[in-house]
Amino acid sequence: MKQIPEDRPLIAPSLLSCDFSRIAEEVQAIEAAGADLLHVDVMDGHFVPNITVGPLIVDAIARHATRPLDVHLMIAEPDPYLQAFAEAGADILTVHWETCAHLHRSVQAIHHLDRPAGVSLNPATPVAVLEDILDDVEMVLLMSVNPGFGGQRFIPRALEKIAALRTMAQARGRDDLRIEVDGGITRENAAAVLTAGADILVSGSAIFRSGDYAAYITALRNAASHG
Ligand code: DX5
Ligand code: ZN
Repeated sequence: MKQIPEDRPLIAPSLLSCDFSRIAEEVQAIEAAGADLLHVDVMDGHFVPNITVGPLIVDAIARHATRPLDVHLMIAEPDPYLQAFAEAGADILTVHWETCAHLHRSVQAIHHLDRPAGVSLNPATPVAVLEDILDDVEMVLLMSVNPGFGGQRFIPRALEKIAALRTMAQARGRDDLRIEVDGGITRENAAAVLTAGADILVSGSAIFRSGDYAAYITALRNAASHG
């Protein structure tokens, strides 16, 4: 099991946009290009209108990965599957607030598996719902598109949510809280996302369609410092 690296920001390429027929090469290439985390999007066709990968493929990815696997569960009932994903090689497990009737129990279950726990919010879910779970999680994943597909446009309102969440975390003495943002992140908007208070950027289509993974990852990483 691998920990979340301490560095800020971290770049987490979403494998959703990679060539799955060459998954071993893609994992190797994206790691060589500087990926800090490998973001894996798990979709079930119920919570989101798309189906992607299950534990079997997470296991296949893990066999080729040296960086931590950041597994984003977009599935209607995550609890029964947490252990299977952990055993498959998930290093960070994130569940959606919208899918967990007993979120505190889900977070406890992730911690029982000895993994950092993330909670994700859809674009229309206010950060205020996190007030009573923030102390218990290592990471919050704010969606900046409606989950389900890569290649969508960034929803600008996400910037205000990032800033509000960072303020809420600071007020609770949680300077260590990782805020990950996912959906429509490009080299054009990365600076605004980081400046608002995010410290992990997920990016799928922009990196994998760029033609130069390393250059694109570097541009995302340095976005805030170079404006
Ligand atoms: C969307 C996924 C994202 C997606 C991001 O439901 O959670 O991780 O792959 O892809 P881009 O960067 O193309 O929006
Ligand atoms: Zn994702």
